[in-house]
Amino acid sequence: MLYIGIDLGTSAVKLLLMDGEGSVRKIVSKEYPLYFPHPGWSEQNPEDWFLQSLEGIKELTAECKKEEVAGISFGGQMHGLVALDKDDNVIRPAILWNDGRTGAETGYLNEVIGKQKLSEYTANIAFAGFTAPKILWMKKNEPENFDKISKIMLPKDYLAYRLSGSFCTDVSDASGMLLMDVKNRCWSKEMMEICHISEEMLPALYESYEAVGTLKPELAGELGLSPDVKIIAGAGDNAAAAVGTGTVGEGRCNISLGTSGTIFISSKSFGMDENNALHSFAHADGNYHLMGCMLSAASCNKWWSEDILKTKDFAAEQTRIKKLGENQVFYLPYLMGERSPHNNPNARAVFIGMSMDTTREDMTQAVLEGVAFALRDSLEVARALGIHIERTKICGGGAKSPLWKKIIANVMNIKVDIIESEEGPALGGAMLAAVGCGEYPDVETIAEKTVKVVDTVEPKPELVEKYEERYQKFRKIYPAVKGIF
Ligand code: XUL
Repeated sequence: MLYIGIDLGTSAVKLLLMDGEGSVRKIVSKEYPLYFPHPGWSEQNPEDWFLQSLEGIKELTAECKKEEVAGISFGGQMHGLVALDKDDNVIRPAILWNDGRTGAETGYLNEVIGKQKLSEYTANIAFAGFTAPKILWMKKNEPENFDKISKIMLPKDYLAYRLSGSFCTDVSDASGMLLMDVKNRCWSKEMMEICHISEEMLPALYESYEAVGTLKPELAGELGLSPDVKIIAGAGDNAAAAVGTGTVGEGRCNISLGTSGTIFISSKSFGMDENNALHSFAHADGNYHLMGCMLSAASCNKWWSEDILKTKDFAAEQTRIKKLGENQVFYLPYLMGERSPHNNPNARAVFIGMSMDTTREDMTQAVLEGVAFALRDSLEVARALGIHIERTKICGGGAKSPLWKKIIANVMNIKVDIIESEEGPALGGAMLAAVGCGEYPDVETIAEKTVKVVDTVEPKPELVEKYEERYQKFRKIYPAVKGIF
């Protein structure tokens, strides 16, 4: 049978067709606009997601035997607030994961309700991008819109709703709403009260690999697919990416270099970082994970190369970089504020350390290194919890760069395993669909049978030493400049 994984990303929706053996048959990508209506705001139109996904499914399945398509599932950008009225109209553009408008609401939740209570109710504290502060923002700033709310959902759940009519979400994505009791995998009554919403407004909770319904007959007709195609709940994009890279079960690690950058550590048991610098979320394999998320990762390189250097040829820029570990320039990658570990929506990017002999290559290198250093900040939090990480998988657009993978291996002093496909969330989505349709008994089994490591980037002791020295300097920059943000 064939399975479709839909990665509902921030710049585009990526769709992947996988067969029952786990082989990728075809990948299609469809872009849509991202709006920044005010500095620090970030919005998208859910209708764009739906229309481009439909177009994507048509293109993806154009040459395959359509009757073999058995299931569709998702990896979706997390935390976004999609609000529908009683007639299922989208009330306002979705407020995305990297939107920083909720400074006041985040402050209210963390300081007035208190981090301890939030942590007790949800296993997490408030970050500006999470969904609960956005609901409070809407109540305060757009009361007429807030009063119209009948359904609240996450971005990928909007797709599932339009495709199947099922008002549902999954536990991995719901973990990032700050409305779910992560340990017990249920909605938190206390958080609903704090956010002035009722349980009817929230979707039904499923495990990521569970079927939530089937394709609506009229859509099945339009797409030429069977109305028996199962819609499987899917996961937040990081949990889906972890499935796609085989980061399931106990103590495995995945790094995602997408628009955001994440370090994801899977665990069979529930655990928390008591300072909540790392998120404690449910995983798509039925277990749990810890995750550090930086808001701008591959997007820093995209911004630097495309907007500033005016080139799309990232590889050509990077082949000129020769002096790893010896750059004098540092870059703080906080273009959209920062989540883990600083939790500061007002932080901004910084270059520091240039001199008259600084070159274009040094600046590009600093951008790649700055992202690696900032990811290491989250890794250090995990290390302080006693978690030992020897190796990681890697996925996302930035993982296409051999240089960036080498920098990450040496900055973090861990082995980076390269797998056959870097399409983490889309592949993970397709794998969840295969489990949901019964082709595999569970997520760990499909991951073991289908994810193949094809190469490993090993850290080199002399480079690790140089990067250690540079990282210790990097760590001092944010505390020194944060007063000006
Ligand atoms: C995770 C996060 C991002 C988005 C990107 O907490 O906010 O990784 O999921 O799509």
